[in-house]
Amino acid sequence: MTELLLVFGRFHVVFLHLPLGIFFALGFVEWTAWRKSQGPVPRVWVALATASALLAATSGWLLHEEPGRGEDWVMEWHERLGIAIALGSILCLWLHRKGKVKQYRRTLCLLVTALLPAGHFGGMMTHGDDFLWEPLKQAKEISADATYSSHIAPLLKARCVNCHGARKQKGELRLDTPDWILAGGEGGLAIEPNAPLESELLYRIRLPLEDEDHMPPEEKRQLKPSELELLETWIHAGASFEDPFPWVGQEEQTLEVAAVEEEKESLEPMNLAPLKDALVHVQPLAANTDALWIDFSAPCADMDDAQVRALLRPVLQHIVELNLARTIITDELMPLFQEMPRLEKLDLRETAITDVGLKNLGHHPTLHTLNLVSTRVTDVGISQLKTLPSLQKVWLWNTACTAEGVTSLQKEAPQTHFILVE
Ligand code: HEC
Repeated sequence: MTELLLVFGRFHVVFLHLPLGIFFALGFVEWTAWRKSQGPVPRVWVALATASALLAATSGWLLHEEPGRGEDWVMEWHERLGIAIALGSILCLWLHRKGKVKQYRRTLCLLVTALLPAGHFGGMMTHGDDFLWEPLKQAKEISADATYSSHIAPLLKARCVNCHGARKQKGELRLDTPDWILAGGEGGLAIEPNAPLESELLYRIRLPLEDEDHMPPEEKRQLKPSELELLETWIHAGASFEDPFPWVGQEEQTLEVAAVEEEKESLEPMNLAPLKDALVHVQPLAANTDALWIDFSAPCADMDDAQVRALLRPVLQHIVELNLARTIITDELMPLFQEMPRLEKLDLRETAITDVGLKNLGHHPTLHTLNLVSTRVTDVGISQLKTLPSLQKVWLWNTACTAEGVTSLQKEAPQTHFILVE
């Protein structure tokens, strides 16, 4: 095949529009003429239509002959219809010439109808099967109940918790747990259940981007309209942390991406200098990990709740092993352990910890080993530890715990080993 013919073949994508336009126009004109009982259009128009159909069909055929053009049912039917239309248009011209107006118009009607699937198949080949309906599919909304934990918490985590969470509490506001969300911030409540318009949280998100109170701050990734709508719907429905609320909206896949990004951000180089300056021993548990072992043994005598809290605050996410033995901490510090999501080993030997403080360990998910030697904990206090799902070992000698208490607790929490004697 010469190059010129190849080029002619490729012009199919241009030529194909000619018969589409001309035949539809011709069909329309003939239809009105028929309704008004007028005669057919001058033959030159029919000849033009025929020529355009032949041009499109031959160029299409040449295009198909090009090596590498696939073969499937769409292509096959497109080609058949194209050739049929070209032949039909010749018939049309002949009938027109012969003055057989009725047959000419019927044939024309058939041709116009055949152009629809022919054109559609052609479109499928160039734009893909779903081209026409694709926008409808993307806009298809899913309707389902949403809950705080499935929809709201991930959204806040992805967009807000970086600055309003365990690591930072901008505006003294935390948005990472139900209790903190309800507690509000510096300026008071963040959400008013059932009253989206009065909720500070929504008010801030809705402020113009350039307003300095706008959330998230201008330079951060902003909420999508659908995400704002989700928060609004939740608050409007009463801002429940348990009950589902109706949500007809688009699922946002971007959230996962954002969550991953946040994860990465938390791996940013840790500033361990303050800990080291305070003579606290801090060491990664292995090479290339951000899991930390932190040991307060050396400066223990000076380490009270405030000191420990201030030093640990920036690295809470990284603490896996923590030794607070012989420090002067009190029960007040205990809630901080809930903010160490990876904490596995905790040493509280010879501290002022009591039963009251132990309650705060609650359901810590990863805590594995707990040293309570030489503290004032009692049977009552340690019985609260049975709610810890990962707890395996608890050292208890030199405490007020009794052999009976430990034996009965041991039955209730068989996966944990309570060690009472040295
Ligand atoms: C880059 C950090 C950052 C991010 C991300 C961020 N905020 Fe803030 N936020 C701040 C700072 C800083 C303040 C305090 C400034 C002020 O009071 O105007 C604040 C204050 C607030 C307050 C007012 C607290 C109070 O009571 O004074 C609300 C409500 C709030 N943010 C909501 C959100 C929400 C909702 C998101 C997520 C959609 C978010 N923020 C994301 C930095 C951030």
